Amino acid sequence: MTFTPKPDVCQPTGSAELPMLDIYMPMMKSAAIVAAARLGLFEALSAGALDTPALARRSQSSEAGVRTLADFLVALGYLHQDAGAYANTESTQRWLTRAGAIDYTPGALWTHEAWAMMGDLDRAVQAGRPAQTLWERMSQQPHLGPLFSRYMHAFAQDLGPDLVAHTPVEPGHHRLLDLGGSHGLHAMRFCRHHPQLQAVIVDLPSALTDTPASIAAAGLADRITTRAGNVLDLGWGQDFDLVLYLSVGHNQQPEDNRRVIAEIARSLRPGGLLVVHDYLAGTPLNAFHAAFRLTLLFETGTRTYSEQEYQGWMQEAGFASVRRVDLNPLEKGSLLLARR
Ligand SMILES: C[S@@+](CC[C@H](N)C(=O)[O-])C[C@H]1O[C@@H](n2cnc3c(N)ncnc32)[C@H](O)[C@@H]1O
Repeated sequence: MTFTPKPDVCQPTGSAELPMLDIYMPMMKSAAIVAAARLGLFEALSAGALDTPALARRSQSSEAGVRTLADFLVALGYLHQDAGAYANTESTQRWLTRAGAIDYTPGALWTHEAWAMMGDLDRAVQAGRPAQTLWERMSQQPHLGPLFSRYMHAFAQDLGPDLVAHTPVEPGHHRLLDLGGSHGLHAMRFCRHHPQLQAVIVDLPSALTDTPASIAAAGLADRITTRAGNVLDLGWGQDFDLVLYLSVGHNQQPEDNRRVIAEIARSLRPGGLLVVHDYLAGTPLNAFHAAFRLTLLFETGTRTYSEQEYQGWMQEAGFASVRRVDLNPLEKGSLLLARR
């Protein structure tokens, strides 16, 4: 599939700089895409183009409302309009519908929640940490946990093939531990690819609400178990051949990563493998990375770590060798494969 860049509606079209384009337009852009996802607009168009009355009926909306939203989505490059009917662009069909390769609609639904939270960003900046971490919010607002897991599931669908391709599982590897394994998709994928594997997923209770049902639906209930718990309590057992620590390190304080990685080394058999996935900090930080760090400051009061920081924790824990794999595109992050 060819990649067609969308118009940058936040840039001035003339030569005069207009600060409000940068302040107001990103909000409207995000709000429009999120509203369309919540109304099921992209999904309604996934089987083909619809005119305004049909789209209004499908999304239980007014015709004036749907037309106004759809016209802006055309300007954003998310919809086409032809002969009075609206249609998904190729990119929208691919990324925001069930008919596409990976459906990031859960990301849009999560963004609806994040919107309200992010209004307090200035307070987190003042304090240098969140008033409440994401995990604390989840325990108070139970709908947030499953929503976040579904969002992570979408990322995991995208990452999964790279992860399996780059992880050298051996015939003698039998026991996999997925720390912060959430939706369970990675453990399921590894078990499907490697029939000798049994897996344990450890995560906070808020992340595991749908996971046992997904594992059962995949026919893997006899090979994958879930355990609700805090990885920082370090009580996940011994004799594993493979440990996954995927996008979990950036949610921890440095000292906690040091402790967790030391315990992972103790829980691996000799020759076992630790696989870390993360968005590794470089110097200078690129825009994506700097934005992600601000999100982490707000959500968990943590930050991203560099390859050198991970290497330090791994060497201290006794890992013999560490290999880095940068994924393509770069926004997919990197893997660190450490051999015990
Ligand atoms: C960014 S998500 C990544 C989920 C999954 N590993 C993946 O790659 O798709 C981070 C996960 O780590 C879990 N997590 C964060 N801190 C944790 C802790 N202290 N104990 C257990 N799980 C934790 C969260 O609940 C969440 O499911």
